[in-house]
Amino acid sequence: MPIPPTLEPTMEKRWSHVFLFTIFFFPQFLVQSHASPEYTRQPPRPLIFSTNTRSDSAPQQVHISLAGKDHMRVSWISSDKHMPSTVDYGKISGRYEASATGHDTSYTYFFYSSNKIRHVTIGPLDPSTTYYYRCGGSSPEFSFRTPPSTLPIEFVVVGDLGQTEWTASTLAHVAAEDYDVFLLPGDLSYADTQQPLWDSFGRLVEPYASIRPWMVTEGNHEIETFPIVYPHGFRAYNARWLMPYQESGSNSNLYYSFDVAGTHIVMLGSYTDFDASSDQYKWLKADLAKVDRIKTPWILVLLHAPWYNTNSAHKGEGESMRKAMEEMLYKAQVDVVFAGHVHAYERFTRVYDNKADPCGPVYVTIGDGGNREGLALDFENPSPSISLYREPSFGHGRLRIYNNTHARWSWHRNNESDSFQADEVWFERLSSSNTCKGTVQGQIHSNSIDEL
Ligand SMILES: [Fe+2]
Repeated sequence: MPIPPTLEPTMEKRWSHVFLFTIFFFPQFLVQSHASPEYTRQPPRPLIFSTNTRSDSAPQQVHISLAGKDHMRVSWISSDKHMPSTVDYGKISGRYEASATGHDTSYTYFFYSSNKIRHVTIGPLDPSTTYYYRCGGSSPEFSFRTPPSTLPIEFVVVGDLGQTEWTASTLAHVAAEDYDVFLLPGDLSYADTQQPLWDSFGRLVEPYASIRPWMVTEGNHEIETFPIVYPHGFRAYNARWLMPYQESGSNSNLYYSFDVAGTHIVMLGSYTDFDASSDQYKWLKADLAKVDRIKTPWILVLLHAPWYNTNSAHKGEGESMRKAMEEMLYKAQVDVVFAGHVHAYERFTRVYDNKADPCGPVYVTIGDGGNREGLALDFENPSPSISLYREPSFGHGRLRIYNNTHARWSWHRNNESDSFQADEVWFERLSSSNTCKGTVQGQIHSNSIDEL
């Protein structure tokens, strides 16, 4: 896979955006930060502000996401208001045998008005196949490869990505080895109300997000609420990063699920209601009850604020969600729960209700993508026995699911110029474990979920 060229802007272009930043910076002072300031972090690396290198009217910020069985959603932004919301695509470069039409949206945030944001769903597509496509009938041409229809499959998992030199380092390491789907458990751009930074982020990640599906859920940095004016938040996130929530029976872009190659993946929302009377809770219960463990033997869950965390950063912030939903995941025999938010890497053993449990999910915190805030250095000591590996370094993770029973997880630390695999472990699918058979839900989609 080619590694994209550097997206570092020239100094002149950087300074040309200082004025813009000043204009859009004001609301940030008024929006409460969710970050905990009481711990010391390594110095972060500088922001990369990615400017548009194409003509103003050309498609930019192109990214793709899975959108229901055998379909892909293509999303992009253009200043050309008259550009059609169409995607032409085919298996041969320059020959587009199919075309699909979607819709556009836009949003305002104080003085900022977004350009047209277009979303087009294409398909049905063949698995493990390279497609070439163009957006709005306009160059440039992009290409992506669809995921396989059956195992094996490889996921990259990166949280708290941001848009710094550390981010660029992480993404370069991700692209250096092949994979199928990119999973992001929250905190994308760190725009934090400075809306041009959402555009910059879209341009920074385009070389990666246009060639493999990016499936994301929201973190606290996506909220961007403002009293009275924008009380519900997520204006930029929901407009720009449309995920397949309707395709999975959810009524909110803040939580959804999808199936890919023997894996059911649930993206939960840490920053919307999750108590037993909430829409998210009811949706999750129904979603897990429908999982067919023959068709999708593996279940992964991603969310932002970790339920298990031995770092002083964000300690306890996921606790109320854990108390509300942990039993549901346990009874569904979820295999792995990935979280972000804490800017470090931590892997737990199988856990349920704060104790090691051979029938609980493995918990992994991977909020170390490269954000501007730096690392969370302060882990509690001595390390609790349920925490097996922890390290405050930037990096990314890879989950390669080989077959119905075994998967390999690895964590890759960013060194100065290369990537180093610092942690590796094999997972056995929980519902295939003799220890857990019959103890809770059973191997297949079970009615026991309804007993909750
Ligand atoms: Fe966060």
